Amino acid sequence: MSRISSGQKKTLLVLAILVMVVGGGAVQLFYPSASNQGYAPEQPIPFSHKLHAGDNKMACAYCHVGIEKSRHASVPSVNVCMNCHTVVKTDSPWIQKIQKHFREGTPIEWVRVHELPDFAYFPHKRHVAKGVSCETCHGDVRKMEKVYQYAPLNMGWCMDCHRGVTTPRNVLAEIAKERPEVMDSSLNHKPVASIQCAACHH
Ligand code: HEC
Ligand code: HEC
Ligand code: HEC
Ligand code: HEC
Ligand code: HEC
Repeated sequence: MSRISSGQKKTLLVLAILVMVVGGGAVQLFYPSASNQGYAPEQPIPFSHKLHAGDNKMACAYCHVGIEKSRHASVPSVNVCMNCHTVVKTDSPWIQKIQKHFREGTPIEWVRVHELPDFAYFPHKRHVAKGVSCETCHGDVRKMEKVYQYAPLNMGWCMDCHRGVTTPRNVLAEIAKERPEVMDSSLNHKPVASIQCAACHH
């Protein structure tokens, strides 16, 4: 008589799902993750990286000025767009919208794609200086019609590279110029960057 009735089975299944949902929720609460992987918000103007950085081969730094010198990568102001769009494709309603912003001196309200919580510190320049490419963290933006968050950007992801586990070869080679030991056995990873809490949380 230890057979479980189908009614009991259903109850068990509902319970299991509840545990999974509530449990999953609790894990979420415990790790308030910045990970918004795949996030691609609607933008006020459908700006295509594929068209500009890919097909037209524009350098990232043409628009994201000063990234090698600062913590943040800047998003270009309307005048950068006007370098071309005073003459290029002026029959497009989107380009006319950009021109209107320019005439009225109002910024285009781009929606942020990547955003770490306030308590985490991320400096672009330190990474660019050691040869970590934009693609490593942002994916192949040159192929994206619409940028999206490519990497998880959670703490484990930062740490895996800092610990020397996922560090790209070219970055290891760059760091080895000062600290040759980072090139030791790939199974015996040496940290390539700080893993001290205070480096990223201060
Ligand atoms: C013609 C100017 C232009 C060029 C060239 C350009 N970008 Fe952008 N980029 C923008 C604009 C405008 C935005 C904001 C709109 C958006 O998110 O699509 C942006 C947004 C981004 C974002 C998301 C920012 C956020 O909100 O988190 C990333 C990442 C990015 N660009 C990387 C790159 C990389 C990598 C390259 C080179 C392969 C590049 N961009 C080339 C203009 C440009
Ligand atoms: C080591 C990983 C990494 C590399 C390399 C990197 N980024 Fe980022 N990027 C990030 C993270 C993390 C953020 C979110 C930063 C924040 O919220 O403080 C970000 C944010 C951005 C933003 C939004 C503005 C900002 O600074 O928050 C742009 C634009 C951007 N990156 C462009 C680039 C470009 C262009 C390159 C190459 C020159 C590049 N990134 C290289 C990780 C990286
Ligand atoms: C170096 C020149 C150059 C710059 C700078 C530039 N663009 Fe463009 N843009 C182009 C070219 C070329 C096209 C393709 C035109 C065509 O299809 O005939 C284009 C097309 C576009 C389109 C598509 C229009 C449509 O309706 O098909 C949009 C939207 C756009 N750009 C927005 C922007 C924004 C926003 C900026 C500033 C962040 C910007 N562009 C900066 C050269 C540029
Ligand atoms: C693909 C590899 C990689 C990823 C991913 C990465 N980093 Fe780094 N990080 C580096 C390298 C390389 C350095 C430079 C170390 C040096 O200058 O010797 C560095 C340096 C830093 C520094 C300067 C501190 C120091 O003294 O080492 C901070 C802060 C930092 N990273 C934060 C972050 C955060 C936060 C993330 C995740 C959002 C992140 N990094 C993701 C490779 C990476
Ligand atoms: C290389 C950079 C880096 C280092 C080193 C680092 N953290 Fe973080 N940490 C982050 C980032 C980025 C986030 C936010 C992303 C997220 O919420 O997943 C974060 C989030 C957190 C959180 C929020 C909960 C969570 O997991 O999301 C806690 C707590 C935390 N870190 C504690 C620590 C402690 C303790 C240390 C030292 C043992 C440490 N961190 C070292 C980058 C780092």
